[in-house]
Amino acid sequence: MLEHETIYILAIESSCDDTSAAVLMNDKVLSNVVATQAIHKEYGGVVPELASRAHQQNIVPVVDQAIAKANIDKKQLSAIAFTRGPGLMGSLLVGTSFAKSLSLGLQIPLIEVNHMKAHILAHFIDDDSMKTPKFPFLALTISGGHTQIVLVNDFFDMKIIGQTLDDAVGEAFDKSAKILGLPYPGGPLIDKYAGTGNPHKFEFPIPKVKELDFSFSGLKTSILYFIQKQTKEDPDFIENNLEDICASIQHTIITILMKKLKKAVKQTGIKEIAIGGGVSANSGIRKALVDAQTKYGWKTYVPKFEYCTDNAAMIGIVGYYKYKNEVFAKQDVTAKARYLIS
Ligand code: KG4
Ligand code: ZN
Repeated sequence: MLEHETIYILAIESSCDDTSAAVLMNDKVLSNVVATQAIHKEYGGVVPELASRAHQQNIVPVVDQAIAKANIDKKQLSAIAFTRGPGLMGSLLVGTSFAKSLSLGLQIPLIEVNHMKAHILAHFIDDDSMKTPKFPFLALTISGGHTQIVLVNDFFDMKIIGQTLDDAVGEAFDKSAKILGLPYPGGPLIDKYAGTGNPHKFEFPIPKVKELDFSFSGLKTSILYFIQKQTKEDPDFIENNLEDICASIQHTIITILMKKLKKAVKQTGIKEIAIGGGVSANSGIRKALVDAQTKYGWKTYVPKFEYCTDNAAMIGIVGYYKYKNEVFAKQDVTAKARYLIS
């Protein structure tokens, strides 16, 4: 790479149910287009077969829009970065095949990106509203598919030091919401109703899990039994207490996450904490992390809202750093449904 070369990366994300494309100029985002697939709402969860079909329909218009919004010509692109995994295979294949074809057509390098690393490195997007964590830092990655505490030594040196043994935290939100009769994805709705509820009205058990690992399946079951019992006595229980139930669920989940983060800080001595993944859009966890700065003396980093949930800009920033280090993929690279970060 030339010293003062301006790098334009087109990034593509299609790991789950959002089709997204972004254009970055070095570490700045010029465009970040996300098409969320509404079809899954009717089914109460992501239907893999429908997701891949929707990606097929969305990918060309989404990429076109991202390039148009960035106001560049595709001939200016330096490389194509894409999500290789982890995710739903049928969804990943759409983005992977598209990225490969475009890189061949434009005769520019191809860069494969790990989705979970991208959630962490989203913090390095150059944006006035965001601060950048210093290495080494701890990353709490919380999404619909993952719950991890990652020790981040460098851009490409990361180690998982704690993770969920069963459900991901996003699933805990979404499944609790489903029990309350809320549509998919329920996480943002629990967050919304929790805003006006009493977080101490109902109590749910905090699971005892070893070391830095998590478990959320017990919480879901205890919420289910609690709701079943209460609605037997009062059929309108959910309706009459929705805000308080949501606030109590959210409070429990945040308590579980913060407890393990505190333990991780104690074990590693690292007080730089960054969050990532869709659940980091949650206003309760965002507040808890901001409060932890004064409460525990941590330095906490919360990404801009649009870089929390699945988006291609975060794929682009990893693409930028890989480009600078000349780490390119070959044309025979394949999508990986399971793709560990270390
Ligand atoms: O990272 P993401 O967009 O996709 C995955 O890679 O999984 O995360 C999606 C998850 C869903 O479970 C969704 O309910 C949750 O993030 N989520 C939230 C909020 N916004 C999104 N959960 C709680 N509160 C929110 N505000
Ligand atoms: Zn994600």
